Amino acid sequence: MSKEEWKPGNMLYPLPAVMVSCGDINGEYNIITIAWTGTINSEPPMCYISVRPERHSYKMIKEHREFVINLTTTQLAEATDWCGVRSGRNYDKFKEMHLTPIASSYVKAPMIKEAPVSIECKVENVILLGSHDMFIAKVLAVHADEHLIDKKTGALDLRQTEPISYIHGSYYEPGKKIGRFGYSVKKKKST
Ligand SMILES: Cc1cc2nc3c(=O)[nH]c(=O)nc-3n(C[C@H](O)[C@H](O)[C@H](O)COP(=O)(O)O)c2cc1C
Repeated sequence: MSKEEWKPGNMLYPLPAVMVSCGDINGEYNIITIAWTGTINSEPPMCYISVRPERHSYKMIKEHREFVINLTTTQLAEATDWCGVRSGRNYDKFKEMHLTPIASSYVKAPMIKEAPVSIECKVENVILLGSHDMFIAKVLAVHADEHLIDKKTGALDLRQTEPISYIHGSYYEPGKKIGRFGYSVKKKKST
């Protein structure tokens, strides 16, 4: 099989599509949909979001140096898309999408109540890359919907929420589970 060479571009998929809340719950706040995001360190837990300076949210994130990453679900897919094609300059995205801002523990930015998991982040570093500025942040706290936590084991079952992924311009529901971490090297049961 031969491969065709293309010009350089962003072709690393699937990605999450998350709703990032920013600003101050007692003042101006907003939601921006972000796909350029990821985990970058375990200890301490760190992640990043890359944001174009022309976004309305940019100045809030730059000013407060804090934000909340809210994971999205199949149910929240439409709101996720909408918050990514409309600007907080013209709309109150929480109101329009019937989302509820609730207070975070450590940052001024609100969490989105309807999101299954909200991750409070504090910006440690900003890297200017060109089209986007990369906000490298430390995770201060993770808030998970109590319905997702197994009462006996304390384990978090995220799959119940049907997290969406973003692949080359389209949103997808989760597919079939094909294995667990390390399954490729585990001894196969003899049949
Ligand atoms: C699926 C999706 C992913 C997006 N990812 C990013 C991103 O990673 N960085 C960014 O700056 N904008 C991204 N956008 C665009 C912003 O979400 C969009 O411009 C939004 O309207 C900005 O809102 P604001 O002006 O209220 O800040 C994305 C949009 C969508 C729909």
